[in-house]
Amino acid sequence: MDFEIGEYFRARTPSATLHINERVATLWAAGETVYHLGFGESRFPVHPRLKEALAASAGEKSYLPARGLPALREAVAGYYTRESGQTVRPDQVIIGPGSKALIFALQMALKADLYLPAASWVSYAPQAEMLGKTVHGIPGRVEDDYVPDLAAFEVSVAATDAQKLLIINSPSNPTGRMLDEDFLQALASLCRRHNVVVLSDEIYARLSHDEPAISMARYYPEGTFTLGGLSKHLSLGGWRLGVAIAPSSPGGERVLAAMEAIASEIWSTASAPVQHAAVLAFSGEQDIEAYIDVCRRIHALRTGFFADRLQTLGIRCTRPQGGFYVTASFEEFSQALATRNIDTSDTLAGHLLDVYRIAALPGSAFGIPESELSLRLATSYLDMETDDAAARVLEAFTAGTPAEAFMTEQIHPRTHGCLRAFEHFVAELSGSAD
Ligand SMILES: Cc1ncc(COP(=O)(O)O)c(C=O)c1O
Repeated sequence: MDFEIGEYFRARTPSATLHINERVATLWAAGETVYHLGFGESRFPVHPRLKEALAASAGEKSYLPARGLPALREAVAGYYTRESGQTVRPDQVIIGPGSKALIFALQMALKADLYLPAASWVSYAPQAEMLGKTVHGIPGRVEDDYVPDLAAFEVSVAATDAQKLLIINSPSNPTGRMLDEDFLQALASLCRRHNVVVLSDEIYARLSHDEPAISMARYYPEGTFTLGGLSKHLSLGGWRLGVAIAPSSPGGERVLAAMEAIASEIWSTASAPVQHAAVLAFSGEQDIEAYIDVCRRIHALRTGFFADRLQTLGIRCTRPQGGFYVTASFEEFSQALATRNIDTSDTLAGHLLDVYRIAALPGSAFGIPESELSLRLATSYLDMETDDAAARVLEAFTAGTPAEAFMTEQIHPRTHGCLRAFEHFVAELSGSAD
């Protein structure tokens, strides 16, 4: 039988991040060495008390309310009140099966065009397109680490009186950059002037490297929906638990009610055992917070080291301030690359995987023009490919290994191997390869 597929999906392939992960898995299964910089998954072990809490909740088999388990919404409200210093009430909270699903529900609930900085996470634009929305790019420049150009954004939003949705993400996937206070304040007044709703994706907020991340809700509480979850700072991507906080207003409540309706028709509720266990994750208990802090410091060391070494090799990359990503630009090598028929970020990523066994995502997957020869590099898998390897990295850190020794080849052999592969690539491009 010939099945007819909806028009939008005829030309669609699975999300770029999941696709590269599958390609790497195939190469690994064939016994190949591949440096996997393509998938952003925090790989630390599940905290033992969270494991116990999940096991203890295995008997929770009933459907929960579409907005989430009341005790969890209360814990989430308490957590965000502590984190942001502003009161968040449980009735502003909705729980979902990952923040990805909640981002989709919010986009579905709001009648608004989407405004997206280049560079932005891979799934925002496809979600909007699935919903038939128009997506407007906001330019950013590699020289500014892709922090969005507010003047260009203002010109674009001033052209229409309709409601607009802007998605920001700080710390950023793919650049690792954070939006600072001045930027957020300027953005808040711009959004106020032009009726812009903000979805502030703060899924990496607890993984800031030095300074704490600042929430957009601090400056624009009336128009900001804050998104978070457990996937990144507690390495629980597979648990599928995300949260959204709506503005405290009748308007915010109307959007939450629409999201609740969407949830009730699509996923009903996030997994009951996971929601019960997640109460502890948001409790602020000291050992959980200490664990989050250790993981944060390790990501900071590994990502900062990687970015510094790339710069030393002459590869320009963004300055990571949070999370575990950098965006590298190979524009300076564009002539040498052109002689190898590499003139897009896609062909660049393909060449690195085929020849150097480095798996990375092309900047084009993040809304960066494909001619810009940029790659998103995630450090989260290197030397943490298996659960045992990840546990060894954690152990080395918690045993008090000094920072310099922690990043040596002994503890991070594949990180060093990957950097050597980049060194060979740069040598090839500079004509000095042996
Ligand atoms: C920027 C960003 N937002 C949201 C998500 C989705 O996270 P989850 O659905 O696991 O909460 C991810 C995952 O990679 C991400 O990088």
